[in-house]
Amino acid sequence: MGRPFREPRLVVASHNTGKAVEIAELLAAFPIEVLSAADLDLPEPEETEDTFVGNAELKARAAVAASGLPCLADDSGLSVAALDGAPGLYSARWAGPERDFSLAMKTVQEQLGDNPDRRAHFVSVLSLGWPDGHLETVEGHVWGTLVWPPRGQGGFGYDPMFLPDGHEQTFGELDHAVKQRISHRAVAFRKLIDACFQAD
Ligand code: IMP
Repeated sequence: MGRPFREPRLVVASHNTGKAVEIAELLAAFPIEVLSAADLDLPEPEETEDTFVGNAELKARAAVAASGLPCLADDSGLSVAALDGAPGLYSARWAGPERDFSLAMKTVQEQLGDNPDRRAHFVSVLSLGWPDGHLETVEGHVWGTLVWPPRGQGGFGYDPMFLPDGHEQTFGELDHAVKQRISHRAVAFRKLIDACFQAD
């Protein structure tokens, strides 16, 4: 059990629109006013840590410092087993300055070549920060395999090449509500709810 969250407002600190929308939707069930990094024009800190947890906490602290409000930050990425966990922390950077995820997916595919091991997982670390400096940090994963060519127009990032275990459609093809139930972010979010948002 973490610290109960009893604040009326919460800033979703992500600057990635796809992630910010998914997090705001997950929060919609709670009586909290949700503000976005864009609403508050928050600066985007450089991700200088070498773990997902380190970067999520760095982003939560930076957003709290800039807004004076409680903030929820996320760091996430795709980890490919046969590539020793790459792109991992560098998942966004593999898309280049133009944030071109067709290019990022093509790079993953090229690096895999004809390797039969196409196992991969997404990681999401969520860090909830309070203005007094307290942090609650949780982690979620979803496992699957990578397909080529990419399939589907939904989601964002690497979704069209990720086939989650137990499903026949990629995250790019699956109904948005299904992704919202099974994704790494949803798993992490449920842990955060259990830790901080239970009625007491
Ligand atoms: P960061 O957390 O802002 O450093 O970015 C993580 C990157 O991981 C995103 O830009 C996406 O490329 C990728 N990523 C994270 N979550 C997802 C997801 O749910 N679907 C597809 N790609 C994702």
